[in-house]
Amino acid sequence: MTSEPARVPVDATTTHAWGSLTELSKNLRPDLRGWFAEDPARAGRLSHQAADLHVDLSKNLVTDDVLAALLALADEVGLAERRDAMFAGEHINVTEDRAVLHTALRRPSDEPLTVDGQDVTADVADEIAKVYAFAEKVRSGEWTGVTDEPVRTIVNIGIGGSDLGPVMAYEALEPYVQDGLEVRFVSNIDPTDVAQKTADLDPTTTLFIVASKTFGTLETLTNARLARDWLWRSLVAAGAIEDSEEGRADAVAKHFVAVSTALDKVEAFGIDPANAFGFWDWVGGRYSVDSAIGTSLAVAIGPDAFADFLGGFHAMDEHFRTEPFERNVPALMGLLNVWYVNFRDAHTHAVLPYAQQLHRFPAYLQQLTMESNGKSVRWDGTPVTTETGEVFWGEPGTNGQHAFYQLIHQGTRLIPADFIAVANPAYPLADAVGDGGAVEAGADVHGLFLANFFAQTKALAFGKTADEVRAEGVAEDLVSAKVFSGNRPTTSILAPALTPAVLGQLVALYEHITFVQGVVWGIDSFDQWGVELGKKLALEIAPAVAGDEAALAAQDPSTAALIARYRELRA
Ligand code: F6P
Repeated sequence: MTSEPARVPVDATTTHAWGSLTELSKNLRPDLRGWFAEDPARAGRLSHQAADLHVDLSKNLVTDDVLAALLALADEVGLAERRDAMFAGEHINVTEDRAVLHTALRRPSDEPLTVDGQDVTADVADEIAKVYAFAEKVRSGEWTGVTDEPVRTIVNIGIGGSDLGPVMAYEALEPYVQDGLEVRFVSNIDPTDVAQKTADLDPTTTLFIVASKTFGTLETLTNARLARDWLWRSLVAAGAIEDSEEGRADAVAKHFVAVSTALDKVEAFGIDPANAFGFWDWVGGRYSVDSAIGTSLAVAIGPDAFADFLGGFHAMDEHFRTEPFERNVPALMGLLNVWYVNFRDAHTHAVLPYAQQLHRFPAYLQQLTMESNGKSVRWDGTPVTTETGEVFWGEPGTNGQHAFYQLIHQGTRLIPADFIAVANPAYPLADAVGDGGAVEAGADVHGLFLANFFAQTKALAFGKTADEVRAEGVAEDLVSAKVFSGNRPTTSILAPALTPAVLGQLVALYEHITFVQGVVWGIDSFDQWGVELGKKLALEIAPAVAGDEAALAAQDPSTAALIARYRELRA
């Protein structure tokens, strides 16, 4: 398609809708108790279906007028046009002059899309076919190491988008992992990570996947070298290879593959490009779990389940692309986030999965949302005109309930929270004995778990008044401490089960929520210049840390003193 120059972003704060929202916010007295009492249809009206996800927005601090103004804001900033431009492959990643086409990674192969003169759908289909063929070889035992043993452990080496997506999805889909296969993930340049992850491994049955879009990331390349050294040393020690150039080359050929957009650099590292899987610069790192970056996952869960995962993404893409905004869940959730950030002074957003398998989902979302929308300039280089980019955070319920929920229930900050649950657990266990009280013998533990999910959003929405506390016989001097204000906003997301398709839907939902917010703020949600300065300085500082006195003297006084203290402590 085209590579049109970007239009100047609409300044959302100058729109008519922004003015309405400001007025509405000024006059809003949140009253979820009253709103539900007056309008019994509220839950039904504000609940929507997006693919397999049932999403209840009714416990958010919005009236119909607020929702109408948010939808008007979407109109005025041109959300639909921007969305269509993304799906069509226009260069909406302006600062890098790139298309943004993660949606093409999950587009059915019989729906061709040509971008910048290239048949993107065909390229995607070819590459994923290579990944699937490799996955089958590993899973069937056809791929063997230097001693002809099949692979039992895959170690994915990558960081950021080349780690967080694959590890999150691997943990989430653990029940789908082939018996006898395990995937481990090394990301941190702290050498502890490689040391711990390889400590008990058999090198003859281990395969490393070096995943890096650029193949230039310090952490990943350092870890890849450490892993390669470990492989050589331990294969030699086990008598599995000769300590020779040929022995080492054979080890790399049979125990290392790569995923990257820079296949020349893969080759320079010593990995045969025939054992490398590619993707394209129009896939952002944090949007890449559904590209070849997901190779470790594809091996673990198999091509069929991986295809279902992609199908889930596509179902959510279609919902976002075609559903009118008043029923469009990513659009509505993105607009609600704008409402909270820009009109209700929310600084953070909690994501609370009631699914242990989603324990890495909040960490994954931190990169997706914060690397995308943590920006101070708009896509035309001018300063943003309002706050952007809230802090996303979270932990699985119920663990969080016994830790930080105190602040969500009774703190002074407004913290919008997404509660995510699945109806059918992977491990349906019953409590045969019960506790002789509330928990009956034979109780379904998942039901008990989800009772907490329902209870928490109820408590946050409706709270407990001083009169209700008094009615429980609480002494007057303790009443205020036991009051719950309520009116703390939540969105409830309920899926049938944590299948690969549902996981794909969840990820795509948050990709599009992030996009919607970025469009309103007029920012380029697909670049990440803010990570560059620290990377550059680390390379400049490394000689000072290693003992170079001139490099030390070139540092500012605080940094120099810290490095000097570090050197003393290491001495
Ligand atoms: O430093 C940030 C970043 O560029 C992320 O955007 C990216 O996901 C990560 O580093 C890893 O990059 P690569 O896949 O190129 O190694």
